[in-house]
Amino acid sequence: METRDSDYLADKVADLILQADRVVVFTGAGVSTESGIPDFRSPGGIWSRYDPDEFTIQKFLSSPESRKKHWQMLTEGGLLAGAEPNPAHYAIAELEKLGNLDCVITQNVDNLHQKAGNSPDKVFELHGNMRWVRCLSCDKLFPIEDILQRLELKKEDVPDCEICHGILKPDAVFFGEALPQKTLNDAIYRSRNCDFFIVIGSTLVVYPAAYMPMYAKESGAKLVIINLSSTPMDSQATVLIRGKAGEAMAEIMEKVRSKLSA
Ligand code: APR
Repeated sequence: METRDSDYLADKVADLILQADRVVVFTGAGVSTESGIPDFRSPGGIWSRYDPDEFTIQKFLSSPESRKKHWQMLTEGGLLAGAEPNPAHYAIAELEKLGNLDCVITQNVDNLHQKAGNSPDKVFELHGNMRWVRCLSCDKLFPIEDILQRLELKKEDVPDCEICHGILKPDAVFFGEALPQKTLNDAIYRSRNCDFFIVIGSTLVVYPAAYMPMYAKESGAKLVIINLSSTPMDSQATVLIRGKAGEAMAEIMEKVRSKLSA
């Protein structure tokens, strides 16, 4: 495992990217903190301000009071702010132009990979997304912007369906909910069949998402981890970059560009 100065490490990762046939990028909330969206487990993150045990699907369905807490956490927690992609997202979008990016597997629900330019069909959202809110009775989908406007304009605490007054739930996966099965199966298959797997901004403690880098490693892929704090997979990384995603990914893609033009 290489842990030396950032220039050397960026150069090594750039070589690994250019040598790879099938690259999988795996991201967590840490790839979006430089876009102003808080992560969950850093100091000051969402779970230091809200109790995760309160945010299960069972609690959400149990009472309007609990749903009010969910909507407050989503709005005040900064998870719904109109964030913009940061240099890490743009670097991952640029990676796709090399032609060997198999997919981006993300735990995030912020749509920033797509907004930065990654093809939607190459982005596997394991935990759903916040772009849509679904009525649990009539299954109608509403854009999150419409719901936020209602929350803002009418000072509603808990929006309900305009059509049938059913319960509205963001299309993100809550604790206690199953992950979208096809997306999960695709992500497992891609993780098992890539030759280079790069983790960016995740503590790798939430399953089954955190199995993905294990599947890649078991299948012989090279593993790179870019993360500000330690993860359970650090000792298995071919290259470990303890740094900020935006800076590291920008430096890596700079190295890739210069190697391609040499
Ligand atoms: N650059 C690099 N790493 C960063 C940055 C950054 N700018 N900002 C934060 N990090 C790191 C943190 O040190 C932390 O280890 O990103 C990691 C984010 O970890 P978590 O907050 O645990 O987020 P994540 O791993 O995505 O959580 C997985 O848990 O609560 C659920 O559903 C939620 O999808 C989420 C899942």
